Amino acid sequence: MAKTVRLDKFLADAETGTRSEVKKMIQKGQVQINGETVRRPEQKVHPDWDKVTLFGEPIGMREEFQYFLLHKPAGCVSATEDKREKTVMEYIPSKRKGLFPVGRLDKDTEGLLLITNNGALAHQLLSPKRHVEKTYFAKVRGILTEEDVRRIEQGVDIGEDKPTLPASLRILETVTDQEERPCSDIYLTICEGKFHQVKRMMEAVGKKVLYLKRISMGPLTLPDDLEKGQCRPLTKEEVSFLLKAGKSLEK
Ligand code: URA
Repeated sequence: MAKTVRLDKFLADAETGTRSEVKKMIQKGQVQINGETVRRPEQKVHPDWDKVTLFGEPIGMREEFQYFLLHKPAGCVSATEDKREKTVMEYIPSKRKGLFPVGRLDKDTEGLLLITNNGALAHQLLSPKRHVEKTYFAKVRGILTEEDVRRIEQGVDIGEDKPTLPASLRILETVTDQEERPCSDIYLTICEGKFHQVKRMMEAVGKKVLYLKRISMGPLTLPDDLEKGQCRPLTKEEVSFLLKAGKSLEK
């Protein structure tokens, strides 16, 4: 029969944070055992019998959560199911229930997409309050200028109640397309996740996105050797960076 363990050790072993981070979460009342909020880190739990939840999400031992980094190709939708379209889940080898994409990339957008069954972490990474940085490579029609860089840095009107939060735009080069029209290659880093945000920000400065690829999200970067349509489990180090990113953003 498995022994009981301290609640803070149980949570730290399940990679939800460091020992001191989980103590704080317990003291703030974010953890329940069998539906009851507990505030004592030294409280004993039985790993097989007690149901421990963090932000309402069940926490088990480390095997319970899975994390995949997918290089999303264009032509599939960021959903778990769709009646008509191919979904990103078709690229994931695990058939474990409860896996879902963290956030959305448009059907025609490529690049880094995190797939997990850790709902608490997804909630942290997607929360508009937490400002997780996402960097995109884009090819846009037209020539971006230093004035556009300044406007993007200050925030632009994309038709929402408020302008976009300050973002960072780096112009890589100006090239021409097959019809000899000028295009700019850029990196854009944003810390929000509004619907079609990059495309709408470029429209706000009079440019049209022709190609879009996400190359990083928080501490995760799209590996150069991960082909489109391929996925791989996150390394232990990536998982711990990600969990730390979620926690460190917590207020
Ligand atoms: N911004 C967009 O416009 N599309 C995406 O897929 C992601 C960010």
